[in-house]
Amino acid sequence: MRMYDLIYKKKLGNALTKEEIDWMVEEYTKGSIPDYQMSAFLMSVCFNSMNEEEITTLTMAMAHSGDMVDLSSINGIKVDKHSTGGVGDKTTLIIAPVVAACGLKVAKMSGRGLGHTGGTIDKLESIPGYRTDLSMEEFVAVVNEKGLSVIGQTGNLTPADKKLYALRDVTATVDSIPLIASSVMSKKLAAGSDCIVLDVTTGSGAFMKNVEDAKTLAKLMITIGKNAGRKMAALVTDMDVPLGRAIGNSIEVIEAVEVLKGGGPDDLKKVCVELAGAMLYLGEKGTMEECITMAENAIASGSAYNKLKDMVAAQGGNVDVLENTKLLDKAKYTYEVVAEESGYIGKMDAQEIGNCAMLLGAGRKTKESCIDFSAGIMLNVKTGDKVEKGEVLARFFTNDKESIPHAVEKYQSAITFTQQKVLKSALIYCNIY
Ligand code: URA
Repeated sequence: MRMYDLIYKKKLGNALTKEEIDWMVEEYTKGSIPDYQMSAFLMSVCFNSMNEEEITTLTMAMAHSGDMVDLSSINGIKVDKHSTGGVGDKTTLIIAPVVAACGLKVAKMSGRGLGHTGGTIDKLESIPGYRTDLSMEEFVAVVNEKGLSVIGQTGNLTPADKKLYALRDVTATVDSIPLIASSVMSKKLAAGSDCIVLDVTTGSGAFMKNVEDAKTLAKLMITIGKNAGRKMAALVTDMDVPLGRAIGNSIEVIEAVEVLKGGGPDDLKKVCVELAGAMLYLGEKGTMEECITMAENAIASGSAYNKLKDMVAAQGGNVDVLENTKLLDKAKYTYEVVAEESGYIGKMDAQEIGNCAMLLGAGRKTKESCIDFSAGIMLNVKTGDKVEKGEVLARFFTNDKESIPHAVEKYQSAITFTQQKVLKSALIYCNIY
């Protein structure tokens, strides 16, 4: 077989066979197909798409390119969740303890972030001592004892996705529905849980810029998961505005702790309760309404917060910083961004705001960059809020004073003012089972 012929076939819009896709994934993972040929193939998928059979085959080939995690030594139903990405998305830190407090097992492998802010693993590592590199035996033991564990992806989980994702990132081929679906679902299937809830985000801070595309992606991923024997659900959620108010790493941990202690921003709490409710529903804990109430009660009673503390302690983290979040490292510099005019916030470009947080040190510019856990942005106002000239729009935290002017300029241009009252967009567009 020759990669040239597969690229040509896809360029003409024809479907590849299972043999061709399996061969391509295996040879690319081994390093026998060069990046320039794979880049051409990915771009032809962006233009000509793939049919459902091709996408399912691609997903399975990518899932089997490395270890398939065996969670059979964990007792009970294992549930997982995945977000297709967003700004200020700290939902895993809240949902995993909520679901574990309600009696399901959460054995979760998460990623690091590239681009705007850190991923869940970076956020957890802002808790001093927290180990994200547990061995498989330690991981299983923590889940069996505490009900949950969140660790980094093991070295050999979906190596095909690791290579493909890095290539897509630099060839403008990330935002393709077949490529996102196969990337997400290969990781979820390899990670071994019985039930999977997907948070498919849409809006300026998401890969899917409109709700219809997000629904198409959600339905496709559900079909792939069901065909592989998993119980599946998806919520299409808004990411036109950052979720919650904190964007960064330790400040997102603080906000997640606030929600688990019964406070925190309403939008964040609502999305978390709905996602946790869907996980409990798939885990057969009751009707959808009962599961949502169960999730709310786990927060109100403090049992979910206790689960977070159990997990952090079991993985070597300093629980004192959760009890007293003032103990977390603080950035040297704080800067207030103020409104240059009066009016309503008409629109926020969430992606650009994420990029501001990255400039301040909260995210990685390249894979090798180090994250400053204390850097980030605290939003004071969001879309639809009325502001007066001179009022604080956001607070920046950084240890890199020189990054501030550029970040301020970017932030100001990411906000659009209007004189008309603004209708806030829906937070959750639909649930799909
Ligand atoms: N998240 C993933 O894991 N993969 C994608 O392709 C996009 C979002």
